Amino acid sequence: MAVYEIVKFPNPVLTTPAKPVTKVTSNLLKVLDNLFETMKFAGGIGLAGPQVNILRRVAVVDVEDGRGRLDMINPVILEGRDEEIGPDGCLSIPGLYGDTPRFKWIRVQMWDREGNVVEFVETDFRARCIQHEIDHLDGILFTSKAVRLYREEAREVATRNRKNL
Ligand code: NI
Repeated sequence: MAVYEIVKFPNPVLTTPAKPVTKVTSNLLKVLDNLFETMKFAGGIGLAGPQVNILRRVAVVDVEDGRGRLDMINPVILEGRDEEIGPDGCLSIPGLYGDTPRFKWIRVQMWDREGNVVEFVETDFRARCIQHEIDHLDGILFTSKAVRLYREEAREVATRNRKNL
């Protein structure tokens, strides 16, 4: 596995929609593994292709809830319910956080690593993270959705256990 360089705001790749994956190849699986490695190395809980300059619809999530890693290929939100405002942060925009509206409940469709189309329901913080990553695939940053933005030192963030998506 390898650690990629994370693209930072305002690099235009972050606001460019990513292209769908047409086939799961060994190379794509390597990209997912490297995304995960990069996310862990950076201390994040989610990372999407465009954040490492790969404009493909792939993302990984691990919100450290004991349920482990979620690899997403071509993910879409089929349905969302119960919007709430909560904190978003982003490895591509270090030090900036935002109170951002997200669904508390989502139904997601995606391909798994075998290329099977799967559907599942997710809630709360993991659902927030998935929505944040899917937004990255559409070239959307949380700063365009947040109702309030604020800066915080990494030390304060660690104390409050906020994480970067
Ligand atoms: Ni992000």
